[in-house]
Amino acid sequence: MREAEVRDEIEIAGLVVEGFLDKFRPIFGRGMDRSVWIMEKWVRLEHSIGGVRSLVVEISATGEISGSVGVRIGDSDDDALSRGLWDSLERSLGFLRASWAATLLSYPRYAASFQEAYVERLVVSPAHRNQGMARALLDASEDLARETGKSTVGLHVSGENIPALRLYESYGYEEVSEQRSRLTGYFLGIRNWLYLRKEI
Ligand SMILES: CC(C)(COP(=O)(O)OP(=O)(O)OC[C@H]1O[C@@H](n2cnc3c(N)ncnc32)[C@H](O)[C@@H]1OP(=O)(O)O)[C@@H](O)C(=O)NCCC(=O)NCCS
Repeated sequence: MREAEVRDEIEIAGLVVEGFLDKFRPIFGRGMDRSVWIMEKWVRLEHSIGGVRSLVVEISATGEISGSVGVRIGDSDDDALSRGLWDSLERSLGFLRASWAATLLSYPRYAASFQEAYVERLVVSPAHRNQGMARALLDASEDLARETGKSTVGLHVSGENIPALRLYESYGYEEVSEQRSRLTGYFLGIRNWLYLRKEI
């Protein structure tokens, strides 16, 4: 386990697209071949202006990255983040598809708070699942939150994502609120987004 470096951003992007394929296919459509490029730009923006640090699990024998998580602990320039994402989407997909993608990617909505670390895009590659890697990434995320003086860790999970829900529940995360969306329900199969939080 280590903190991600700039050279890891492309691999993180690949893992995220692979892990959330069901979500990304309807978002990017025929522009799916551009999805890893777009995600890499997004991860880079998050690291540079989004107050996010990423952690990765690296397999020592091969150097392959098998899991990753982003933890938002610092200030974020949300306007610049949105502009940066929009530029990547429009350049890759054209105006109409980019508008569609930006709308779907705007879920779930989250209002950052100074006391809270926000965990996002937790993913383990399919070949390495069920070996405790997500637990290790979550442990490290909580450690990072403590080290940076946060009092809570928050995250969103779709109500349909049973493996992730089991994981978070077993760590003591509790549901605080729920966002329902007919749009993501219809197009992504995600009817409700649960916002979970844990005191640390
Ligand atoms: C969710 C995910 C990160 C779990 O990664 P993992 O490394 O396989 O998880 P772990 O081996 O650390 O398992 C931790 C716990 O998660 C739960 N869990 C993991 N996979 C599960 C499954 N298929 N069914 C039910 N519970 C599961 C269990 O509680 C498990 O604890 P246990 O082994 O004591 O039963 C992985 O399945 C993944 O990358 N999914 C796609 C991306 C995603 O949905 N991320 C979550 C976003 S909110």
